[in-house]
Amino acid sequence: MAARPRIRALIGGALAAGVAVIGAVAMIPDANAAASTLGAAAAQSGRYFGTAIAASRLGDSTYATIAGREFNMITAENEMKPDATEPQRGQFNFSSGDQIYNWATQRGMKVRGHTLAWHSQQPSWWGGISGSTLRQAMIDHINGVMAHYKGKLAYWDVVNEAFNEDGSRRQSNLQATGNDWIEVAFRTARNADPSVKLCYNDYNIENWSYGKTQGVYNMIRDFKSRGVPIDCVGLQTHFTGGSSLPSNFQTTLANFASLGVDVALTEVDVTNASTSQYAGLTQACINVPRCVGITVWGVRDSDSWRSSESPLLFDGSGNKKAAYTSVLNALNAASPTTSPTATTSPTGGGTQSPSPTPTTGSGGGGRILGAQSGRCVDVPNASHNNGTRVQLYDCNGQTNQQWTYTSSKQLQVYGNMCLDAAGSGNGAAIQIYSCNGQTNQQWNINSNGTISGVQSGRCLDVWGTGNGQQVQLYDCWGGANQRFSLS
Ligand code: G3I
Repeated sequence: MAARPRIRALIGGALAAGVAVIGAVAMIPDANAAASTLGAAAAQSGRYFGTAIAASRLGDSTYATIAGREFNMITAENEMKPDATEPQRGQFNFSSGDQIYNWATQRGMKVRGHTLAWHSQQPSWWGGISGSTLRQAMIDHINGVMAHYKGKLAYWDVVNEAFNEDGSRRQSNLQATGNDWIEVAFRTARNADPSVKLCYNDYNIENWSYGKTQGVYNMIRDFKSRGVPIDCVGLQTHFTGGSSLPSNFQTTLANFASLGVDVALTEVDVTNASTSQYAGLTQACINVPRCVGITVWGVRDSDSWRSSESPLLFDGSGNKKAAYTSVLNALNAASPTTSPTATTSPTGGGTQSPSPTPTTGSGGGGRILGAQSGRCVDVPNASHNNGTRVQLYDCNGQTNQQWTYTSSKQLQVYGNMCLDAAGSGNGAAIQIYSCNGQTNQQWNINSNGTISGVQSGRCLDVWGTGNGQQVQLYDCWGGANQRFSLS
């Protein structure tokens, strides 16, 4: 539901400091401005939009630029799998996984862990052991990897693809260690990191009437009834020649959610990127309050594991495809009332919470309200451009006024841009910029109501109270023009 920005004549900044500004014309945000990236559009209803990242591609500037701009959740495509993280028994290697983790979190993105126990991409030494030895190796692996990422990830795919198409358990070396291997994996995971949400992840569980869907559903219902810790189900959503978007997809999501777990679309790709299937799968998620987000399995078609089917949202040159627009439009049309139900921490409790910790607000963020002006910190014209200076404006609850204070002290807007100081001296401009993890994008929320820059030590400050008044840095003195509340 995109609406065009309107132009209003503003008398800006004339109410204070004796600054005479007459008839200044500024672009100011429309009440229903649409977001222009997938992550920001999803954030409007409290969801994320993610992609799988391959560490080896991060040096490709087109790839990194698109990924950094569009997404706010990242899954390592291969780098956190057992063969990558424990190539020899007891010898862990997190170099590629950390490369992706650091790249993502430096940009204010969250990370899904994928995956801890799977019949595929196992370290070769798992092939030489079985029974209780393999069971113990799986437990040790989960403990070793989760210790490394403790408190850092939003979700972990604890177990991946453990079912056959008919709903029975897949015969694998892990299954051969005993039918309880999955619940042992989840119990181990909860103890290893109580702060992260624990997911079961699989493909071909999108059609409610399919045997495999029923098999997974019954396992989760059983786990819930017996107190086996599980927080979420990932539906991979690989729609290929043999499996396209089922008409009952939303029913499937709703039925899983009714068991008391989050649901997510975790590895989406669609043969030839059918616009109707992409729009339909997005809408199904939007319609289910506990559907927390969507991840596509790669950035450009050329990055896909099935690139010959051109299944992603960007073509090989990095251009947005029609499917991109269909997804963006569906996300922008979502009402905040369809946002995911707030969920409590995983049942194991724990003191660490996945970062970032959002401020309040239905769109995933909260307002920064000026004490003197009663107006909100606002990105003019809902701009997403680096370097756009922020201003005061009448509070309207739109996404260009919704800020999320993260555990790394960033004030994020749109899910992937940060409040940024263009300098550190008195009068330095306060603008939005792509999140980069630097200290000029880190802020302390002080008990006296001021917000000070970690780099500069100076405070957010306004010289006036009117619409269009620009925000700057200035020596902290605690006056009303430097006090803001996050709400
Ligand atoms: O890195 C090596 C390279 O050095 C070597 O020359 C080359 C030779 O084939 O292989 C490269 O490794 C490949 C790796 O992807 C990185 O590109 C592996 O062979 C290849 O098997 C591996 O495929 C991955 C596949 O999982 C393995 O099962 C795909 O990238 C990855 O997208 C895919 O992801 C899975 C999810 O984890 C689970 N759900 C299904 C999904 C698609 O299969």
